[in-house]
Amino acid sequence: MRIVSGIQPTGNLHLGNYLGAIRNWVRMQDAMDADSQCLFFLADLHAISMPHVPAELNAATLEMAAALVACGIDPDRSILFNQAQVPAHAELQWLLNGTARMGWLSRMTQFKDKSGKNREGASVALFTYPVLQAADVLLYQASHVPVGEDQKQHLELARDVAQKFNNDFCTEDAPVFTLPDPIIPPEAARIMSLRDGTAKMSKSDPSEMSRISLTDDADTIMQKVRKAKTDAEPLPSEKAGLEGRPEAANLVGIYATMAGTDVESVLRDFGGEGFGKFKPALGELLAEQLGPISARFSELKSDRESLDAILARGALKAREIARPTLDAAYKALGL
Ligand code: ADP
Ligand code: NA
Repeated sequence: MRIVSGIQPTGNLHLGNYLGAIRNWVRMQDAMDADSQCLFFLADLHAISMPHVPAELNAATLEMAAALVACGIDPDRSILFNQAQVPAHAELQWLLNGTARMGWLSRMTQFKDKSGKNREGASVALFTYPVLQAADVLLYQASHVPVGEDQKQHLELARDVAQKFNNDFCTEDAPVFTLPDPIIPPEAARIMSLRDGTAKMSKSDPSEMSRISLTDDADTIMQKVRKAKTDAEPLPSEKAGLEGRPEAANLVGIYATMAGTDVESVLRDFGGEGFGKFKPALGELLAEQLGPISARFSELKSDRESLDAILARGALKAREIARPTLDAAYKALGL
């Protein structure tokens, strides 16, 4: 089993990024046995498909790498790297551009969403983005790719590209590419803003109080939780009682996710209690669990040398795995 997965580099990381994305990777890594392998990459090449500021992209790539390691991605067990350091991604994309069809890409809903009304002004990279995604996984003969609902169409495209390439350019007994299967990641927690239970916790929210940042210390976490928006009712003892109470539901959900339990069990413990009792308990749980992450994150973020070394080592391993497939693809095309 070989799992390949990418994440867009993004800065100002918060509890939503941790519980909704990063933690799933840590779980996948921890579930691997000796014959299995995870390749995790920072999708910095994908990031240039949208307008971006170069220095910010560079900083976000390093920040994301630091966060991944701080949250438990072990660069000795998993292969952690950024795309830009493995030229085979861009090379294979070009080779696959010869196989992918305009019609296939035109049907991608994400391109339609992201280009919006300004189709003419969208970058070519935004259009061919799914071909780079195909290259990302086919390059490593990935057997499995974790895909959320919004990425299903892109994995289908990767499989179509692989199949057409194998059909058109390979003999039946020597296909160049493995068709990857999707794995549905464990249902990701969706964390809402601490100021508005109906808005996603996000770095784009101008209020710092709306989110727990991965750099917050224990006092800051306690304060943000204490000031989190709630209603005046005590917590219900059953889940149905959270309906129509988005702020309460969010805090209880965060507690359950952090404690590794479910909402029912949290309500068995706290049902009937007011927020005066629940908030300090939640704050303590968050501070206790995020403390070591935040310490390691801050340490790594300011240690450029270690980060560069981790990514360079990952890129070296990734290049080694990619080489034979890239060579075979060139050869199959008569190049
Ligand atoms: P933001 O919304 O802060 O801009 P991004 O869009 O950069 O975050 O998301 C990076 C990753 O973190 C994505 O995989 C996304 O699904 C996840 N994520 C972001 N915010 C949340 C949230 N509030 N709850 C769960 N997952 C989230
Ligand atoms: Na966003």
